Amino acid sequence: MPVTYSSYLKLDELLALQQPLSDGPEHDETLFIVIHQVYELWFKQMLHELDYLQGLLIAHDTPRALHTFKRLLTILKVSVAQIDILETMTPLEFLSFRDRLETGSGFQSFQFREFEFVLGAKNPAALDRYPAGSAARRSLERRLAEPTLWDAFLRYLADGGHAVPAEALRRDLSQPVAEVAALQPVLLAAYRRDPEARTVCERLVDLDEGVQEWRYRHVKMVQRTIGAKPGTGGSAGAAYLLATLNRPAFPDLWAIRSEL
Ligand code: HEM
Repeated sequence: MPVTYSSYLKLDELLALQQPLSDGPEHDETLFIVIHQVYELWFKQMLHELDYLQGLLIAHDTPRALHTFKRLLTILKVSVAQIDILETMTPLEFLSFRDRLETGSGFQSFQFREFEFVLGAKNPAALDRYPAGSAARRSLERRLAEPTLWDAFLRYLADGGHAVPAEALRRDLSQPVAEVAALQPVLLAAYRRDPEARTVCERLVDLDEGVQEWRYRHVKMVQRTIGAKPGTGGSAGAAYLLATLNRPAFPDLWAIRSEL
């Protein structure tokens, strides 16, 4: 059989995956399913690009790293903008099928947790939500032990001749990326004297800000759709999500801005 558009993209399988649970079914449930599936595909692609980007930084290939950053940041912008689509769904439209979600929630998205881990927001407690031995748990265990994008960037800086302190280069990889005061003068010097490294820093800030923008847009969507009701995933809902705002992935890059 020759390859066709449908066979290559496995469209029969893909288009059979949107299965509303509500009776009727409720009109808006299809949008809710499609948008979450699209998000999971973008998470997959962003993880793919992030893995590639880490390799490029370690290889000190600045042009291809910047090219990959551009793609990653464009996907992130598009995925943040998709919240506009879901915000066309009113609270009553969501309530028409919300019960059918039972305890299901984006909270359980293992790809989102992988994304957080790759960016440095490691949290071993997140593993407990996935059964031991499951594919999701194994991916997260691997990501928990692996270097993050920040670690690849520090290696890039060190290889570029910057005196990155050993405490930053040899940090415990299973821990979240935290501020290292001794690294900040090195970053300031890179900003002032190394235009390539400075550009890479700026793209990291774009990425960090983009993820924070997603969190802000998501919590606003949650507030307008369910108010202060608890989440289906078992958290306090918006109150929990508000506590995740303003937590930068790369704190040193924000700290140095007052000194520039
Ligand atoms: C009407 C739309 C939505 C509502 C009302 C909503 C609600 C919530 C709530 C209340 C939480 C907190 C956890 C919980 O107790 O459930 C949450 C977490 C989360 N949601 Fe949504 N959500 C919506 C759409 C989306 C979409 C489209 C995505 C895209 C993947 C998404 C991804 C996530 C993620 C990744 C978390 C975990 C965030 C974290 O722990 O920092 N949500 N959502």
